Amino acid sequence: MSLNFKVDENKCIHCGLCVKDCMPKIITFNENKIPTTIEEREKSCTKCQHCLSICPVGAISIFNKNPEDSEPATNNFNSDEILRLIKERKSIRHYKRENVSADVIEKLKKMIDYVPTGVNNHGLHFSVIDNVEVMDKLRKTVNSTIIKIVSNKTIKSVAKSYERYTNAILNGEDIIFRGAPHLVVVSTSKKAPCKDVDPIIALSYFELYAKSLGLGTCWCGLAYYALKFVPQLGKMLDIPYTHEIAYVMLFGYPEVEYKRTTQPVEVPFKEVTALKEIKPTLFESIKGLFKKS
Ligand SMILES: Cc1cc2nc3c(=O)[nH]c(=O)nc-3n(C[C@H](O)[C@H](O)[C@H](O)COP(=O)(O)O)c2cc1C
Ligand code: SF4
Ligand code: SF4
Repeated sequence: MSLNFKVDENKCIHCGLCVKDCMPKIITFNENKIPTTIEEREKSCTKCQHCLSICPVGAISIFNKNPEDSEPATNNFNSDEILRLIKERKSIRHYKRENVSADVIEKLKKMIDYVPTGVNNHGLHFSVIDNVEVMDKLRKTVNSTIIKIVSNKTIKSVAKSYERYTNAILNGEDIIFRGAPHLVVVSTSKKAPCKDVDPIIALSYFELYAKSLGLGTCWCGLAYYALKFVPQLGKMLDIPYTHEIAYVMLFGYPEVEYKRTTQPVEVPFKEVTALKEIKPTLFESIKGLFKKS
């Protein structure tokens, strides 16, 4: 794989920032103090583009990406606004029966590319239902499949703890999808190094950006379990066989409006000022390596 790493020698001011910031140490100076890649290390490139991003004079191109095509960084954000967005976010369980406009969905789609993933793996897959009628079909199929399953006597007795939900579905309540016009199912490559965390990070970004675009969202554990435990349902969404479903989020224009922030329980945020003494044996030090995840 060629990185196509190119440096405009007329622009380079030899500051060394690209050399310093390349995490796998692929970049070095040549005899003329022009950055170049170490060929045998190129396979370790994570494609993070930090080199292209950090160069103060825009001298680096890589993977045929040129610095002129990047947006200039402002490094200037309104932290009060961002905090307000976080504080005003709510799980929305009442939606307008209305499709979100295609340009808003496009904005969400474009944002996802910037979400960080472990080792820059980018092994996520987003399946989006962008039409309320398709959503209605999913709603109907999932609810009727669950009714069929829980009508079985044996399953009914085993699934006693889910009775509240199954009764609601039997009563025609859309307790899983909350009348949402859309949903997004994130699946993750089974081989991704951080497959448990990457999709959750992506949905957290999705949720906040969606809120800033006037949308409501809801993390949907019930839909996640329905799709996970009844694999035929997951198949309807055409998720690649190399991927597994990681989580589901409902979204749409909210029908409700919250007038004030909540006053949440304080999460312990404890300063560790001194480390506890530990004397791990060699076995204790390495036993985590053999634990099944
Ligand atoms: C779940 C997760 C775990 C990560 N673990 C590490 C890590 O152990 N060490 C590290 O240097 N970077 C780590 N990263 C950072 C990623 O390598 C980085 O997000 C990715 O290369 C993209 O670069 P960017 O975040 O600068 O866009 C992690 C990122 C994620 C999302
Ligand atoms: S893309 Fe990232 S890992 Fe690859 S050469 Fe540039 S800085 Fe290094
Ligand atoms: S960051 Fe840019 S200017 Fe600095 S050494 Fe690398 S290529 Fe040259």
